[in-house]
Amino acid sequence: MLRTWLTDRFDLGLPLISAPMGGASDGRFAAEVCRLGALGMVAAGTRTTPEYIRQETEMLAAHHGAWGVGLLAWVVEQKPELIEAVETLAPPLVSVSYGNYASYIPRLHDVGSTVTTQVNSLAEALTAAAAGVDFLIARGGEGGGHGRNEMATLPLLQELLENIDLPVVAAGGIATGRGLAAVLAAGAAGAWVGSAFLACEETAWPDGSKKRVVAAGDGDTIYTTSFDVGLGLDWPPGFGGRALANDYSDRWHGREQELAGSPSPPVGEEAPIWAGQGVSLVTRLQTVADVIAEFQEAENLLRRW
Ligand SMILES: Cc1cc2nc3c(=O)[nH]c(=O)nc-3n(C[C@H](O)[C@H](O)[C@H](O)COP(=O)(O)O)c2cc1C
Repeated sequence: MLRTWLTDRFDLGLPLISAPMGGASDGRFAAEVCRLGALGMVAAGTRTTPEYIRQETEMLAAHHGAWGVGLLAWVVEQKPELIEAVETLAPPLVSVSYGNYASYIPRLHDVGSTVTTQVNSLAEALTAAAAGVDFLIARGGEGGGHGRNEMATLPLLQELLENIDLPVVAAGGIATGRGLAAVLAAGAAGAWVGSAFLACEETAWPDGSKKRVVAAGDGDTIYTTSFDVGLGLDWPPGFGGRALANDYSDRWHGREQELAGSPSPPVGEEAPIWAGQGVSLVTRLQTVADVIAEFQEAENLLRRW
């Protein structure tokens, strides 16, 4: 069995966390990840309510040792009732990313949660360490959904491991046992994986989106702010998102200022399907068990070397 700081801290069978993905990782999905020995996160996305968080985590709290909730810091700033709901639930793991998260860390520590955030540069990592996170998520710009795009996963991971004395979990583009083996060999405590789970039966996403993910190949994603500007979402400066490129991003990417002046939201076929470069490796509709079995291969690969 692969043992790292992460598996010891949360008593996991595999050093892997399923990343919170707004609209995709609900309680049913996260529970299946937990049942299979990894750590499942429920996403509290842009439209989340305290009721949603309570409802989706109910079965996790009742049946699983380690599970988590992923918050968006800039949304919590607008809806403080979200952090209050999470404090009451006291999940074993809470991630608070993208925005001013520092004041939430002591509050979450007080209820016994382990706290982390996603960073994309050494400077951001140092700020997070000073704010008191228990471990760092080194999230490269090749990852799906939101984040910064300053650094790719591998250079960022090496930089943080060289410079900061905190456990580091790698994220962005890790989609197979090979990817997990690579980051563990480099010294990461585990992987934080989103896109690889997008075409799972248990993922709370429309079938059409899953099929688009399966069909996507190399070069089919784009890092852009055009979808957020079009949707009128207030992501803090410097945060864009990686999604499957489509007619909307073809039309508006690079013309965001113009778009801000004339609202034309991406809807229907043009709505964003957030996904990272790892989607090239998602080639069929599958189950969470299939994806976890694929990641288990990391152990054989590492033993071989
Ligand atoms: C569809 C989708 C939705 C996401 N939503 C969130 C979110 O609500 N909160 C969050 O912290 N990260 C979110 N992310 C980012 C993930 O936490 C993670 O950084 C990313 O999936 C890692 O890269 P990968 O997709 O290549 O595995 C999302 C990612 C995707 C693909």
